[in-house]
Order: sequence, then C-alpha cells, then structure tokens
Amino acid sequence: MYLINRRQFLFLSTGTAIAALTQCSHNTNSVSSIQPANLTALTTSSNGLLETALEARPGLIRLGQQQGNLLTYNGQIPGPRLEAKPGDTVKIHFTNKLSQATNLHYHGLHIPQTGNADNIFLSVPPGETQTYEFTLPKNHPSGTFYYHPHLHELVAEQVFGGLGGIFIVRGELDDIPEIRAAREEFLFLKDFALDANGQIPAPGHMELMRGREGAILTVNGQVNPTFTIPSGGLLRFRIVNASTSRFYRLSLEDHPFYLIATDGGSIAKPVELRELLLSPGERAEVLVQGKRPPGRYRLLSLPYDRGGGMGMMGGGMMGGMGMMGSSAPISNQPDLIATLTYKDAIATPLPLPEKLIPVETLPQPSKTRRIELSMLMGMGNGMVMQMAFLFNNKTFDMNRVDATVKLGTIEDWELVNVDPDGMEHSFHLHTNPFQVISRNGKPDPYQAWEDTLRIRANETVQIRIPFRDFTGKTVYHCHVLDHEDLGMMGIVAVEA
Ligand code: C2O
Ligand code: CU
Ligand code: CU
Repeated sequence: MYLINRRQFLFLSTGTAIAALTQCSHNTNSVSSIQPANLTALTTSSNGLLETALEARPGLIRLGQQQGNLLTYNGQIPGPRLEAKPGDTVKIHFTNKLSQATNLHYHGLHIPQTGNADNIFLSVPPGETQTYEFTLPKNHPSGTFYYHPHLHELVAEQVFGGLGGIFIVRGELDDIPEIRAAREEFLFLKDFALDANGQIPAPGHMELMRGREGAILTVNGQVNPTFTIPSGGLLRFRIVNASTSRFYRLSLEDHPFYLIATDGGSIAKPVELRELLLSPGERAEVLVQGKRPPGRYRLLSLPYDRGGGMGMMGGGMMGGMGMMGSSAPISNQPDLIATLTYKDAIATPLPLPEKLIPVETLPQPSKTRRIELSMLMGMGNGMVMQMAFLFNNKTFDMNRVDATVKLGTIEDWELVNVDPDGMEHSFHLHTNPFQVISRNGKPDPYQAWEDTLRIRANETVQIRIPFRDFTGKTVYHCHVLDHEDLGMMGIVAVEA
C-alpha cells in the first residue's frame, strides 16, 4: 500500500447529503423480487467450523434510486460476510446459477492454492456445484479479506456485475482492548454502471483499456449510507476496495484516519493519515476518533489520476489510435462515499491503542526477479482494436509457468511499470503476502503485510515474499481486473 501522509486539513463545503437508504426486509429466494442490499448478512464459524452455502445467481437489486440486473451471492450485494478464526475449517458449498462458468477465490488468505481450496484453476460450469474446503493455519493473521470470482477472462465482468464479499479472520488484533472497545463497521466499496433499463452496459475499448468504472458508488450495496460515532468513541472501519478498476482516495472531513491494518493484517502501531489510497483489491483498517462537534461529516473519495491516455497523443506503438478520442477526463470533484454523524456520548473518551502487533522483519532473499508491467495496443485484422496487458512482454498462458520458486525460500521481486501508456497498475499475488522494501529505490516508510499494491508509471517497487507452507501453482496479476482478463497474469509454481 502506498499512503499519502499529509497534515493539511481539507476544507470542503458541506454538500447536500443524499438521504440514506432505508433498509427493508428482503426475499433471498426469488430472482425476480427486488432485493435491497444487505448490510448485516453474516455467517460465523462455530466449534472450529464455518460451513455455509453460496449460490452465484442473477438478481434484481436496488442501487440508490435505480434497480439493476446484477450478479449476486445468495441474492445479496455484497455476498454474506464470512467470519472464521485461525485454525478453523471452512467449507463452502458453492452452486453456480449464472449463465456462464465461474469459481471462487479467497483473496489474501494464506491457505493451499490447490485441490478444492483456493484453486483458481477450478471452473464451475453453469448449473454445477463445487465444495470448497480449507483450514486456516493456526497462526493465520487476523484481518480483512475478500472473496470473489476468478475465472480468467470473466473476472472483470463478474466482479463488475456485483459478485464479491468480505471474509474476516478474527484473532489477536481484535483482542486488543482499545480495538475491542471500538464500534466496528465494514466498508465494502463497489462501483456500478447501469443503463436506463437497469442493465450493465457493455464496456467500450477505452473502458477496457483503463478498466471499467461506474458512476454509482456503493458501500455495502448502499448509496451514501450513514455511520454513527459516539462523542468520545472510536470507530473501526474495515475497508475493502471491491471495485473492478476504481481507485479510492479516501478522506473523512475533519477526521484523520489512524491506520491499524493493511491487506495482510495488523501493523505495529497506528499511523495517522489524512488520506488513504486503495487500489482495486486492497484493504485497510482504520480507527476514527469521535472528537469533533456533532454534525455531518462526509467520507469522500478525492480526485485521483491513475494515468493512462498519454499514448493517444503520440504515434509509435499507439499509432492509429487518434480516432478514438481522449480518455475520460479525470473528475476534479470529490465523490461522496458515505456520511458520518455523531450519536450518543461516552463519558471517558476511548484512547487509541499505542501498540498493535509487531510485524516480523524478513531475512534477506535468496533470489531476485524482475517483472515488467506493460501493454500493447494496435489495429488488428479488419481494423479491430486489439490490446494486451503484459508481464515481461507475455500475456497469460495457462500452460506456462512464469516463476518456479522453492518452498520455504524468500524472494525479492522487482516490479517495474514500463507501460507506454503511463497507466498505474495494481499488482496482486495470491497465497503469500509480502512486504514492500522500496519504491524507486527509496525505502518504504514502515513495515506492513500487503498482497495488492499500486505501481505508478515508471515506478519500480521492490517487494519481499516468503513462500511458506503450500506448494503448487497459483497466480499473480493486475487487480485492475480488465487488465488481468486481457493477459496481465502469470503463474508461480512453488515446489518442495
Ligand atoms: Cu482478488 Cu487473483 O484476486
Ligand atoms: Cu487474490
Ligand atoms: Cu493493470
């Protein structure tokens, strides 16, 4: 994660708040009924077992003022929140009621990448079922994780359709008294696009190139929901960027964030931030202190330029692109994500925790690899626009292993963004979380476990990965999911 730590405060005018959606009861069994998004659906483990059924199926879902024909797990957007503890066994009876094949991935979990665990090479055809089963290691970090479909070439479409849910591992971070005292809220951030008929419009070339985004911004399936904080209290936001391509640059009016966890769990001590940048697939946990006068405070996503579109102006490999026009202008208005209001008061204000959980220092790597991120575009046969997104000049090949790694070793990967279009990418590795060592040669300011991170144009990011516990093949890819579907994915094989 790349964090902007700025002391300057934001002075933003108070806009008209959109009335928060009231939740109504819903019927989860019928595809044709209108189902408001569900904030509370939760499945927790008991006696060491989390066993549940998940069904991927189309559903008519209300998003703000509109209704959309979307894709759901169990008729809900987001899918049910799953919660387990380290050492628990997870058993998911999955049914595919979509019209196309799909599967499930458990983003960020350190579990086997083979068999019927976190195996993204499995494909579940329409009408079929698959039981997923795995056991979380006893020393699995507590944190905020994310499940979503992962069938190559259909990932962007299915995630943009609405599929995804939160997976929580509850453990030591949750036992810290100050954190236990905080009010816990989940922010599952997802954008949607709908046409006048409530259908998701097919993406054009430009949207595929940049990665599709939608103008309807939701949190837990709701447009601008309201969260409350008691005066003197603490709020803990567990945030998932579940969008296909959208980057969020979050800022809460008049309230700093205190970062406590990144993708892979706790950091060593809270870090004060004015802004939090999350690329697709990234998660973070922050605390907010209720120290301001009661009122309405907006959680905003500030304008953010993730590059791209530079090739439009030049010739070279982007030649012939002129007729496509320029890429969508970067909005200079902040987007409203949610609203915070004050409710109740706590007599003795809750303190922030001073310490969290130490992050281990990894030993030196036994091997270093370099991976270049780039893209190619041009006119193919019959003047059909073609584009490909590449790691080391290759598109994904199911039958090619791109990196063979020895189990139990540590590697440094140098990720170099040489994209001629100047676009930012979001690098993600399955199964094994990593630490960022440096960006453009500058040491990373603090230690954290990540599994997804932003790589800006011309940036070189060095990450350190311990390959632990599990052998077999898995993948790394760009989490701008259109880029993944268009080839920006590679296979890493871990061998005993
Ligand atoms: Cu969140 Cu390979 O994905
Ligand atoms: Cu993943
Ligand atoms: Cu990308």
